[in-house]
Formats: sequence, structure tokens, C-alpha cells
Amino acid sequence: MTILVTGGAGFIGSNFVLDWLAGCNEAVVNLDALTYAGNVHNLDSLRSNPLHVFVHGDIGDGELVARLLLEHTPRAVLHFAAESHVDRSIHGPGAFVQTNIVGTFQLLEAVRAYWGNLEPAAKAAFRLLHVSTDEVFGSLAKDAPAFTETHPYEPNSPYSASKAASDHLVRAYHHTYGLPVLTTNCSNNYGPLHFPEKLIPLMIVNARAGKPLPVYGDGQQIRDWLYVKDHCSAIRCVLAQGRVGETYNIGGWNEMPNLDIVHTVCDLLDELQPRADGASYRSQIAFVADRPGHDRRYAIDASKLHRELGWRPAETFASGIRKTVQWYLDNPDWIAQVQSGAYREWVAKQYAAG
Ligand code: NAD
Ligand code: DAU
Repeated sequence: MTILVTGGAGFIGSNFVLDWLAGCNEAVVNLDALTYAGNVHNLDSLRSNPLHVFVHGDIGDGELVARLLLEHTPRAVLHFAAESHVDRSIHGPGAFVQTNIVGTFQLLEAVRAYWGNLEPAAKAAFRLLHVSTDEVFGSLAKDAPAFTETHPYEPNSPYSASKAASDHLVRAYHHTYGLPVLTTNCSNNYGPLHFPEKLIPLMIVNARAGKPLPVYGDGQQIRDWLYVKDHCSAIRCVLAQGRVGETYNIGGWNEMPNLDIVHTVCDLLDELQPRADGASYRSQIAFVADRPGHDRRYAIDASKLHRELGWRPAETFASGIRKTVQWYLDNPDWIAQVQSGAYREWVAKQYAAG
């Protein structure tokens, strides 16, 4: 049997593919356009693994996707591919509309055609699992209860609006055509292979490089953080046991203000690789202009996934962040390789005023 993964060279997708092939013998066809966020070297350890087939291509290429589906006859499609960075969506929303909305639509069309021609047993067993985000629910007041699956959609950034649109399309393909879909809405991930444009890896690489640690606004925005491998285990759980047409929230029961996250990273670096001058990495923190439209708080209620499917994260934040910081200290070559000219151009553009 085979699964088709989209976006499997990105942060979560590559962790998912690596964990999947470490845990079972089911082949993976990995379709990724290798945008700035895709990194084929994340998959280097699979180079001689015949169970991993990497295909460089776009989810919006209907002919390619149709051919891959017919050739490999996957029993499931796991859809990770997206433009994923909120700040980039503020600078240039077009790519988000194109990949997250139009690309998802084109993928759904190809999958619908393939699924419609399957034999009854394969048709009944088939699943499309759409990987989405808690950001579709918008921003929460300080004391408001965490997002449940029935919370209204109130996306505030071009990124979250494009993900919300993709969620709606997936839902509509189930209701209208009967396509057997599952949707997951997850909170902020962190862990190995995280591209250093996002908060935690940016803080680690900037700290080690002696650069400022840019904290937006007052740093009191709250996110719920989940170790990436726990997100991957939740996706495997939903794929195996989730009820068709349902959505499942995934979270770490770990709400923290951004400044506390940055302090934690600095304190771990102080312990594991102290600065030569003996000062704390906290001295590099720099408060910079806030993100436009910055959501104040996300909090995810993942009790449905626990109650119905028995999933819980394996890592606490303390254990996960220690593993993460250690991974970045152990992998300077990976950091150097992703800090290409395009990465440096992005950092210069985004933090110019800071
Ligand atoms: P990422 O930006 O690290 O990776 C995205 C991957 O998709 C890259 O490999 C990229 O090359 C590929 N891609 C982009 N456009 C494509 C296209 N048109 N065709 C094929 N491949 C394309 O993203 P991530 O952080 O790994 O997120 C993966 C998914 O999980 C996204 O759908 C995102 O919305 C969702 N998500 C992310 C988080 C998080 O904290 N990172 C949390 C919840 C949900
Ligand atoms: O909630 C899930 C979402 O989490 C995913 O859907 C997105 O794909 C993922 O990128 C992430 O979005 P965020 O915007 O929350 O992540 P980011 O790492 O960009 O920022 C986390 C918080 O840190 C946010 O409040 C903004 C702040 N921040 C970020 C950067 C890059 C800073 O203060 N300084 C920074 O330089």
C-alpha cells in the first residue's frame, strides 16, 4: 500500500515522512514544489529507501497529480503543502491564494476523479487528510475558552484566510461529492527542521549568530505550542481512526506568551552553549514593530481527539524545547544550508525597520 503526501519537504511534512517510514513499511509518494520553504535535504536519510518516491512538482498541476494517483494508487492523500508564513502573507498574499486555495482546489479535483473510479472496497477505504491550522478561528480574548471544532471561522491574516478557504473547499467536497475527507486544525509546531523564519528557530539561529532577537510588539501574544512529532502522531491517529467528514483540533495544552518562549530559548542556550563573554542571550532581545493585524491569543481545545481517538502528546514543552534547541546546536550544517541568499533577502526585508 501507498500514501501520497503533499509538501513532504517542508517542516512538518518532512518530519511526517521520516517518522512514517521509520514506523512502517508503507510506501510514500512525496509531491513537493520545493519553494523557498521546501528542502530536499531534510529527506537525505531516505535517499536509498525504495519506499520513498520524491516528485518535484506542484499540487496545482492537475495532469501531474492525476498521473501520480493512477500510477501509485494511494489509499490516502495527506495534504501538507501550503504557503505557511503569516509575515510573508502580509508582504505578498498572492502566492497564498494560489497555493492554499487554487492549489487545494486543483488537488481536490484530481483526487475526486481518481477516487470516483476506484473499486468499491478501495473507494470506501480511501481518505484525504487535509492539514490545517488553529489560525482559521481568529484571535481569542484573554480569558475566553479555547477553540473547539465548532468555533466560528474568523481568519484575520491573508494566510489564515487562505487556509480557511481551503478548509471550506475540503468540507464542500465531502458534502457535495461524498469525498472521504478528514481535516485537522493544529496549533503552533516547533522542533527539528523548522525553517528559521518562524519564531523559535529564528531565535535560536539569531542568538547563536550574535544577532538581535526580534520580539514583535510587547511580546505578550499567546500561542499554544506542540512538538512537531506529536503533531505527526496525531495525524497518523486521525488517518487511522478518524470519522469521515469530521474535523479534529490538535494542540499541546501549552499556552505561552511569546516573550516567555524567547526567555526559555535563551536560558537553554545559556546552559547548553554559553556566550563567550558570559552574558545571557536574553541581552540580545530587541522589541520591534508589531505584526499588522497580529492575533493576540490562540488556544486549542484538543479534547475531542483525546476523547474519541485516545491521542495525547508525548512531549511536554520542557522536554520538546530542550530537544529542539539541542537539535539546532547539533546541526550547524543544516542551518548554514538553509540560510541562502533568498533567506537573507527575506530577513533584510522583514526586519529592516527593527
Ligand atoms: P512549510 O512552509 O515548512 O512547508 C510547506 C511545504 O509545501 C514546502 O516543502 C513547500 O515546498 C511545499 N509547497 C508549497 N507550495 C507548494 C505547491 N504549490 N505544490 C507542492 N508543494 C508546495 O510549512 P509547514 O510549517 O511544514 O506546514 C505544513 C502544513 O501544516 C501547512 O498546510 C500549514 O498550514 C499547516 N500547519 C502548520 C503549523 C506550523 O506551526 N508550522 C501549524 C498548524 C498547521
Ligand atoms: O497557529 C498555527 C500557525 O503557527 C501555523 O498555521 C503557521 O503556519 C505557523 O507559521 C504559525 O504561525 P505564527 O504566526 O503563530 O508563527 P510565527 O513563528 O511566525 O510567530 C509566532 C509568534 O511569534 C507570533 O505571535 C509572532 C511572533 N514573532 C514571530 C517572528 C517571526 C515575533 O515576535 N518575532 C518574530 O520575528
